[in-house]
Amino acid sequence: MPTYGRLDVAFAKGQGAWLTDTQGNQYLDALSGIAVCNLGHCHPAVTKAVQDQAETLIHTSNFYHIPLQTQLADKLTQVSGMEQAFFCNSGAEANEAAIKIARKYGHSKGIDKPVIIVMDGSFHGRTMATLTATGNAKVQVGFDPLLPGFVRVPYNDLDALRMAIGHWPEAVAVLLEPVQGEGGIKVPDSEYLAGVRSICTQRKLLMMLDEVQTGVGRTGQWFAFQHNETVLPDVMTLAKGLGNGVPIGACLVAGSAVGVLQAGNHGSTFGGNPLACSAALAVLETIEKDDLCQHVTTLSDQMLQSFKNKLGDRDGVKDIRALGFMFGIELSIPCGDLVRLALAERLLINVTADKVIRLVPPMIINAEEAELIVEKVSKLVLTFLSSHAVESVA
Ligand SMILES: Cc1ncc(COP(=O)(O)O)c(C=O)c1O
Repeated sequence: MPTYGRLDVAFAKGQGAWLTDTQGNQYLDALSGIAVCNLGHCHPAVTKAVQDQAETLIHTSNFYHIPLQTQLADKLTQVSGMEQAFFCNSGAEANEAAIKIARKYGHSKGIDKPVIIVMDGSFHGRTMATLTATGNAKVQVGFDPLLPGFVRVPYNDLDALRMAIGHWPEAVAVLLEPVQGEGGIKVPDSEYLAGVRSICTQRKLLMMLDEVQTGVGRTGQWFAFQHNETVLPDVMTLAKGLGNGVPIGACLVAGSAVGVLQAGNHGSTFGGNPLACSAALAVLETIEKDDLCQHVTTLSDQMLQSFKNKLGDRDGVKDIRALGFMFGIELSIPCGDLVRLALAERLLINVTADKVIRLVPPMIINAEEAELIVEKVSKLVLTFLSSHAVESVA
C-alpha cells in the first residue's frame, strides 16, 4: 500500500554511520533509520549476537521461560531503576501496554472510565489507541471514532496539567515524551519532568514516559529522565534503539504500576523472543563497554556550539537546540524540501513539524563525522535560506 512517500533511493548496505545505495554511492547517515541504528549500521557486536542466536534458537513462545528475555529484563531494570519489563515488537505496542496498565490501574481504584492525560504535539504511534494519544491531527484524520478516555494539555506547562487533573477526577495517568521527537525536538524546561513527577505522586497518577525515541542512550543518558536525579517514572516505554534495527519494544514498570498486569492480561507472540533479546543485550553491553553516553554528551556539546557558530545569527534560523544526539534546527519557514536537497548531497536528514530539521545521528560517530554533519547541514541551510526570501526574524 502506498502508506509512505518514499525518496528515490534504495540502500544496499551499511557500515557505521555510512550507507551505500544500489548504484554504489555513499551517504552519511544523520537519521539512523529514525533514531533506531544508534550503534550505526551492522555493528559487529549486534551482528555477531544475531548470527549466533539464529544458529541456536530463534523463537519458542512465551508459554515457556526465555532466559535471554530474563537477562534483558535484568539489565534494563538495573540501568533504569525500573522493576519489571514486558516485551513487545515496536514503540506503538509498548505504548499500548502502557495505556492498558493505566486503565487497569484506574479500574483497580474503582474508576470505571479512566482518563489518561496526554500532550499537544506528542507522538505515540499509529495503532488506534496510540494515534488517539498522539497530539497531531494529521495522524488522526480519517480514523474516527477515536478512543474515549484521553484528555490533552499543552506540553511543558505544569499549570495546565494541574488544572486538567483538577477538572478530571477520573484521571489516572499522564503520558508524555521527555523530549518531543516527531513534535519538533521540543526540549522542555529543566524542571518540567520533576514537576510532572511530583504532581503525579501527589495526585496518585501514574507518570508514564514514552522513551521510544529518547531512550537507550540517545540523549547522553541511558534514559532521558535520568538527566534529572529526582525523576523515576511509574511506566517507561522503549523500542527504536533497543534492538539497533532488530524489532523489539519494551514497557517497564516501577512503583504503583508494578503488579497491575497479571497473567492473561496482556501478551505478544513474538514479544521478547530469543533473537530480538540477543540483539538488545548486545546493544546494552556495547553502550556500557564503549561508554557511549559520555561520548554522545561530549560530541553533542561540540556539535551544538558549532551549529550555533555557523547558523546562530542567520535570519530565518529561529532556534538551535539539542539534548544529546537529538538535534533540532528550527527555521522560520517550512523546509521539508531540505530532505531531498540533503539527499542530493549524500546526507540523510529529516524535517519534522514542518520547520524543524531533525538530526539523530548514530551514537558511534567520530569527531570528524560529527563535524562533517555540521558542515553539510549548515551549508544546506544557508543555501536554502538565501534562495528563499526570508523576512528578518525578531
Ligand atoms: C516517541 C515515540 N513513541 C512511539 C513511536 C512509535 O514507534 P513505532 O513506529 O515503533 O510503533 C515513535 C516513533 O516514531 C516515537 O517517536
